[in-house]
Amino acid sequence: MSTVVLAYSGGLDTSVAIKWLKEKYNMDVIALTVDIGNVADLEAIRQKALDVGAMKALVVDAKEPFINSFVFPALQADAVYESQYPLATALGRPLIAQVLVNAAKQEGATAVAHGCTGKGNDQVRIDVSVAALAPELKVIAPAREWNMTREQTIAYAQSHHIPIPVTKTSPYSIDENLWGRSIECGVLEDPWLEPPRDVFVWTRPPEETPNQPAYLEIEFNKGIPLSLNGQKLDGGTLVQRIHNLAGEHGVGRIDHIENRLVGIKSREIYEAPAAIVLLRAHQALEELVLTKEQLRFKSKVTSEYADLIYNGLWFSGLRQDLAAYVECTQRYVTGAVRIKLFKGNCQVVGRKSPYSLYDYSLATYDKGDVFDQSASPGFIHIWGLPVRTQARVQPPELPE
Ligand code: ARG
Repeated sequence: MSTVVLAYSGGLDTSVAIKWLKEKYNMDVIALTVDIGNVADLEAIRQKALDVGAMKALVVDAKEPFINSFVFPALQADAVYESQYPLATALGRPLIAQVLVNAAKQEGATAVAHGCTGKGNDQVRIDVSVAALAPELKVIAPAREWNMTREQTIAYAQSHHIPIPVTKTSPYSIDENLWGRSIECGVLEDPWLEPPRDVFVWTRPPEETPNQPAYLEIEFNKGIPLSLNGQKLDGGTLVQRIHNLAGEHGVGRIDHIENRLVGIKSREIYEAPAAIVLLRAHQALEELVLTKEQLRFKSKVTSEYADLIYNGLWFSGLRQDLAAYVECTQRYVTGAVRIKLFKGNCQVVGRKSPYSLYDYSLATYDKGDVFDQSASPGFIHIWGLPVRTQARVQPPELPE
């Protein structure tokens, strides 16, 4: 009998998938849970996979590679999809695919499987990533094939003795990792409705946050955050600490009408407290150390890079090329940023760097000013030359 490695979350769909894969494909199923900061009780999930009928259940801790090889490169790129979504789910998928592929090879499996439906981006990200890393592996997506509604899936689970969580299952579809939490479905599908309270679990409602602001000082080295309030921390811990502080102050809620790769507009709610703070801080430091031209060019790379991540092309050559460019832009992105968190807002209130291009003696209006104002008329004369020339022969249109 051939073997399939299934990316297993412990939820209803992937639990049903264990049984379904055995029934439909007559395969041995190895459940694999990839920990990128999403799951509480990994041992319980492992046990559940075995109870439902997996031949073997594996748990892989991938938090370190997630932060250092996926999240931080994306942070250096300032990658945010459609100026709103910090791409938490999108960054997790290629890593999950990579871990699936490794396990499949180790276990001699001929296929991998995942719980994505046929309407979302996640299927694309996993399928394309697996194809890039191990084209010989077959990819099976049960939820894309079985055509069951949620009620039918529950009925299937009941008839196959698959435990359905006794606690009221969430009315939402949720994906979580260290970089963010994605929430969709249920009442959120009406974009006119304000997201109910229970949508959010990482961030306090801004009206219930502390009445005193919190200040954070984040230090970066070459675009990578190194320390928080003077304390050096590993990436995962630093992200987690910022997550807690920002969440406490209601920072990190996003309500986005998003354009999916498969052509659907969908309403997505995100909670990404750490991502929002770190992206803001990182950009603030770049403003200080990169030139106007570098910043403008980088913003084009940023939007291209974010699209590649969103669209499942992490393992493409172009993503690697842009990563090399981004890496190069970070050579002087070293310094500190001070952030103020208050009532849902995250404000940059201070920044410094040994490589700062901010020159007080050029910027000041006080004494010590070295800017040569007498050179300005000559500069303006040349700068305005094309406008004067044009205005002479093509007079500008004036509003009535
Ligand atoms: N729309 C987001 C994305 O495409 C989030 C997807 C969330 N996935 C989920 N299974 N709930 O990255």
